Amino acid sequence: MESFTAVILAAGEGTRMKSDTPKVLHKICGKPMLAYVIEAARGAGAQQVVVIVGKAADRVKEAFDREDVEFVLQEEQKGTGHALMQAEEAVKGSSRIVVLCGDMPLVTAESIREMVRLQQEQKAFATVMTAKVDDPTGYGRIIRKGDNVVDIREHKDASPEERKINEINAGIYCFDTASVFSALAKVKDDNIQGEYYLTDVVKILYQEGKEVIAYRLEDPTELQGINDRRQLAQAQQIMQQRIIEGLMVEGVTFINPDTCTVDHGVRIGRDTVIYPGVILEGSTKIGRGCTIIGPCRIKDSELGDSCEIIMSQIDECMLGEGVKVGPYSNLRPGCILANKVKVGDFVELKNAKVDEGTKIPHLSYVGDAVLGKNINIGAGVIFVNYDGYNKHQTLVEDNAFVGCNSNLVAPVTVRAGSFVAAGSTITKEVPEDALAIARARQENKLEWAKKRRNKFKGGTNGNGK
Ligand code: UD1
Ligand code: CA
Repeated sequence: MESFTAVILAAGEGTRMKSDTPKVLHKICGKPMLAYVIEAARGAGAQQVVVIVGKAADRVKEAFDREDVEFVLQEEQKGTGHALMQAEEAVKGSSRIVVLCGDMPLVTAESIREMVRLQQEQKAFATVMTAKVDDPTGYGRIIRKGDNVVDIREHKDASPEERKINEINAGIYCFDTASVFSALAKVKDDNIQGEYYLTDVVKILYQEGKEVIAYRLEDPTELQGINDRRQLAQAQQIMQQRIIEGLMVEGVTFINPDTCTVDHGVRIGRDTVIYPGVILEGSTKIGRGCTIIGPCRIKDSELGDSCEIIMSQIDECMLGEGVKVGPYSNLRPGCILANKVKVGDFVELKNAKVDEGTKIPHLSYVGDAVLGKNINIGAGVIFVNYDGYNKHQTLVEDNAFVGCNSNLVAPVTVRAGSFVAAGSTITKEVPEDALAIARARQENKLEWAKKRRNKFKGGTNGNGK
């Protein structure tokens, strides 16, 4: 297939979003809606992508500055025809252009490719993407003569008869570049909206004897535009379904897909089972055979195979194979957990590197720490990493055992094979293979409780009775 340049119209105001964010930057499944249009254009074979920006142009440019996209500014929004005119210089190297809208993120690469293929096959000068819809209100209507499109009438300019036409203009076209720009030069703004309509080129081309055809989609779903927050939510739902269905096709089980939120680009290996209420965000990548039980949120993290995550949050972390987390744990940014690490319930981890086989099963805070292999961290152990001014590091070496309810006051090191007695507050290095006890010695006062009971004439130690 001959290549083409895609021109994406995105200069409109998007007033109905009632937002401080430009419309095309509103996110669907974790990515700005414009990103989907760019991706579809590229997927269809666009060799060049030009985006027409207007309102808040700088913010749109900034959001896509790492992509291979050109921007053209339409300073004043005088209509879709005027918008395309701004791109004339930018697209002159290409004999064919495809016009797309920045607020139609559901359009697929396949549909664009098919439209271009049809234009090529029929040797047409323009191809208009259309669909039949139940309620065509607001859309431009397709005026046909047999297979040819001879005009497009905007809803506001249409007669009652024309308004009955239910084949609508999607706002997506394939054009012969030279023909469309020569036609655009003849477009006037003598319509109800006082705009330069791109749709008027159809009539002009027809009058010049240049064939315009329609590429009609059977299913209008992908032509849904986004003008307000309700349509944003609808598009989110459709996109979400596509993403999850794509993952299911690849061998991932979703117990109740409607309850899960999975961003575009999240990768999951086969035989992983996702339970209800799981949110997978950003660049998250999950291995094979994992079990993720919600409610759970995993963001920008990488999990190896066979991990089991139960009702926890994991943000910017890397987990090896067979790692278990939860229920109810919070893995904050910067944690690296090697194979077979176990983080149990009510554990908070931050910037912690934990080596193979180490267990942190209950009620701990582990921050700014490096832990070796096969360590056991008892219930309630706190890594005291913050002195009010600075964060300090704790190192625990292989095979150490840290007893319950101990405090490791950083900076401090617990050497290999050592043992920290329960309830200790460790402020000095614990030597290899040593036992550290850092707590007050127990003293037993015999008969003390009994004497006290007698003094108060109570039968018990004082349970209020
Ligand atoms: C347009 C079509 C209509 C079609 C509908 C499909 C025209 C005249 N009408 O109408 O036939 O059924 O799309 O959704 O083209 N834009 C600019 N600069 C402008 C004006 C618009 O970049 O000066 C961009 C918008 O950001 C948007 C796209 O062009 O992405 C479409 O503009 P919009 O105002 O939504 O056109 P409609 O009136 O909906
Ligand atoms: Ca629109």
